[in-house]
Amino acid sequence: MINKVKEHIKDLDALSIQKMEDLEAFRLKYIGKKGIIPALFGDFKNVAKEERKEMGILLNDLKNAVQNKITEVREKMEGLEVDSAAYIDLFMPVNAEAGSRHPLSLVRNEIIEIFSRIGFNVAEGPEIEDDWHNFTALNFPEEHPARDMQDTFFIEKNPDIALRTHTSSTQVRVMENQKPPIRSIFPGRVFRNEAISARAHCIFHQVEGLYIDKNVSFADLKQTLMYFAKEMFGEETGIRLRPSYFPFTEPSAEMDISCHICGGKGCNICKYTGWVEILGCGMVDPNVLKSSGIDAEEFTGFAFGMGIERITMLKYQIKDLRLFFENDLKFLKQFENAI
Ligand code: DAH
Repeated sequence: MINKVKEHIKDLDALSIQKMEDLEAFRLKYIGKKGIIPALFGDFKNVAKEERKEMGILLNDLKNAVQNKITEVREKMEGLEVDSAAYIDLFMPVNAEAGSRHPLSLVRNEIIEIFSRIGFNVAEGPEIEDDWHNFTALNFPEEHPARDMQDTFFIEKNPDIALRTHTSSTQVRVMENQKPPIRSIFPGRVFRNEAISARAHCIFHQVEGLYIDKNVSFADLKQTLMYFAKEMFGEETGIRLRPSYFPFTEPSAEMDISCHICGGKGCNICKYTGWVEILGCGMVDPNVLKSSGIDAEEFTGFAFGMGIERITMLKYQIKDLRLFFENDLKFLKQFENAI
């Protein structure tokens, strides 16, 4: 009988239990009512007197070994259960819908891509600007109406600081910090104190372009913008430049493209004129070059600025500018596979 108990103890050492059910079977086998240990204790009275002491110690060892085994296996399994909660089932079906790019981001990226193909890089400037970069260095006369509180969000405590009203401010920053040749575009968010409607918002986006080098001419400006219009709206697109006024360019122009919806025949998008306006442009005024630290005798350049909302509305025939800011999934989902 002593040998039998010793063997049980040896067996226990070698035993490996992996599942909860097996642990329960093990417990019943050894310490259940009809288990091995109660049976051995039951037989104890039959053990010869001289063996009783040794037998008693061995039986207690066996009982402790079984208890230890159970505790050890249970602790291990509880650890495993925590792990199994962290287990990720890669094959589980998912309900979540994937997002997609906002139409304004799509068009912004397309504009960047088109200009990068002809050597324009991208720079960005701050949205909170000072008067110098937003107005003064851009040749806005002191009493110019665009400085009026109606159009610009100023900081109340410091009227020298404002939310930029256009990305043209980045022109000045780049020219102050870089020597020509400069061939860059500046996309960004701009702010104006406007009532929100289908055609205007107090927050919108622009892309500014700037090209400064020796002998840059109006012909370069025209060619660059024609290339852009054809890439953006199609090979058959035509452009027309109308004289205009901006303080920072001389001469200045506004550019129309032939209506890409009706091909110039006349429709409600182009208000039956065959043309739609897409941007402002011109030759950088020598005063602006001087203010930004560039020698106006040596260098000339052109600049242009366009609204990303406007280009996006034309490209996708969106009638209400407010849709861009509402984040209505029914609207946004239409652009999932755009471009
Ligand atoms: N900054 C002008 C605006 O916000 C757009 C513009 C016009 C930018 C002519 C230019 C330009 O660079 O040459 O309306």
